[in-house]
Amino acid sequence: MLRKIYKFIRSNFILEKIFFSDFSKFLLKYLELIIFGGRKRRKLVNKIQDLQFNSKYRYDWIFSKEPPHFYDFERYESVFVNSTDYCKLLKGYHVEDILKKGDKLLDIGTGAGFFAKKFFSNKCSTIDAIDIDETAINYARKYNFSKNINYVIQDAVDKPFPSKKYNVIVWDGAIGHFHKETTDKMLTKISDHLTEDGIFVGSENLGREEGHDHFQFWDNLEELRYLFEGYFKYIELKEVQYPIGNYNNFTRKEAYWKCYNSKIIKEQK
Ligand SMILES: C[S@@+](CC[C@H](N)C(=O)[O-])C[C@H]1O[C@@H](n2cnc3c(N)ncnc32)[C@H](O)[C@@H]1O
Repeated sequence: MLRKIYKFIRSNFILEKIFFSDFSKFLLKYLELIIFGGRKRRKLVNKIQDLQFNSKYRYDWIFSKEPPHFYDFERYESVFVNSTDYCKLLKGYHVEDILKKGDKLLDIGTGAGFFAKKFFSNKCSTIDAIDIDETAINYARKYNFSKNINYVIQDAVDKPFPSKKYNVIVWDGAIGHFHKETTDKMLTKISDHLTEDGIFVGSENLGREEGHDHFQFWDNLEELRYLFEGYFKYIELKEVQYPIGNYNNFTRKEAYWKCYNSKIIKEQK
């Protein structure tokens, strides 16, 4: 129903001007906040949910006659609502899969720091997580703090990386945000900063329909392979397609890569 109303308004020039003028958007934004609340309210809801699941744990595992023979994962049911929701986190698992205990990692264009904290910080000894956007780094420091993550505001192109060598360099969902003429400099810098057995790993959307703030696009995996070939001997690429958007009405094509120069890594695979 709401979707139909939204579509109707969007398709009508006058209604769109009324509902999506800056003034209407300002009013609607605050209406959302009054009715549903913001981070504080979500924090409270999460806290209540935590208490609830702690109680469920006691109920199922401690006070039961016999503990269950399987874990029901109910805790994650509200996170993974649609059958493809897990795909949105695949890039985190893609990196986690290659991490070894004690790795030193560089995360280029870390954004909110979510993946640095939730997927990389457990195994890595230290992480340098850099981003040009001060608001992103401030957010990451506040909400994704970890003792072994060093969040730095910096332009990855012009400023030297915080350390000389890394076992893993991650460039997730960000390469398209960099200007085409800086890509060569970035890839040279990345390969120079990797240890002998280091791995460059990352992801980016394919196609041109997504990425209003992107400066460059790749249509398929072969174009990415062609780009990386000049810098790495071994290139592994894969593509996953999954629906996104409020109504799951857009198919995202996401490319994932692992690039390295060590024959040993190739043989281990
Ligand atoms: C789409 S976000 C990706 C965030 C995160 N890696 C993820 O996968 O969720 C792209 C990030 O790249 C950052 N970025 C763009 N140009 C950059 C530059 N020259 N140096 C460092 N970060 C940059 C942007 O500020 C933005 O936070």
